[in-house]
Amino acid sequence: MLVSAKEMVAKARAGQYAIGAFNLNNLEWTKSVLKAAQEMNSPVIVQVSEGAGKYMAGFKNVADIVNNVIASQGITVPVALHLDHGTYDGCKKCIEAGFSSIMFDGSALPFEENVAKTKELVAICEEKGMSIEAEVGAIGGEEDGVVGMGECADPEECKKIADLGVTMLAAGIGNIHGVYPEGWPGLRFDVLTAITEKVGTMPLVLHGGSGIPDAMVQEAIRMGVSKVNVNTECQLAFAKATREYILAGKDLQGKGFDPRKLLAPGAAAIVDMVKYKIEVFGSKDKA
Ligand code: 13P
Repeated sequence: MLVSAKEMVAKARAGQYAIGAFNLNNLEWTKSVLKAAQEMNSPVIVQVSEGAGKYMAGFKNVADIVNNVIASQGITVPVALHLDHGTYDGCKKCIEAGFSSIMFDGSALPFEENVAKTKELVAICEEKGMSIEAEVGAIGGEEDGVVGMGECADPEECKKIADLGVTMLAAGIGNIHGVYPEGWPGLRFDVLTAITEKVGTMPLVLHGGSGIPDAMVQEAIRMGVSKVNVNTECQLAFAKATREYILAGKDLQGKGFDPRKLLAPGAAAIVDMVKYKIEVFGSKDKA
């Protein structure tokens, strides 16, 4: 059964560790992420962007796949199914489809509109026992064709959104989605401090978790980050393992072209990556 992310991120905030939120792309991802979380005895958040939801044949299908894999793989660790960077309409669709958590990303809207829409969705989530993440200040990089400028969030705005009763808050602190560019100066711990001074114990979300040095992520976790989003590193691990399989000519040997064989090394690479991240985030044995 899916659970809201509320309890897991609150416990993580109090215990100074973070919950990994891994983006799903297909069935292999779903099976691998849930297997890794179970083997690590860690709570986990699985999430889809609106684009990935479409790719997986709709939010209802995503919820069905996740629920079915939980049942068939005997997953007993807490699992939240979350919408990543949702629009207002996307959030409504995921609430209907049976997700247990949503992110409303109103960061590109005029601030007052972000406040109004977040407030409305907070009320719905409260009634349904769901968790909700909000965003202040766009996160840099490219995601689903949306390119942010890598700005840092305004701590005052963070407080205003946190006070609406959201479960967790994504706030830009120099983090970027995707591969970090050469010469990236690192996370802005000064901004993170200024934000936590305003929002207190509100669990914070670090987007663009791929490619940030582990020690830097762990420092951010000590300072209040309780959810870390990871997508690109799992994609790179999957692609690398698949490439090696093909370059070794294994798809041409026997029935090596069978997708169950062709995709197996990539799926195993995702399991390893998710386990590694869970270790770094400190959520092992916190189920
Ligand atoms: P990465 O692809 O950089 O890991 O970012 C994932 C993310 O933040 C999803 O919202």
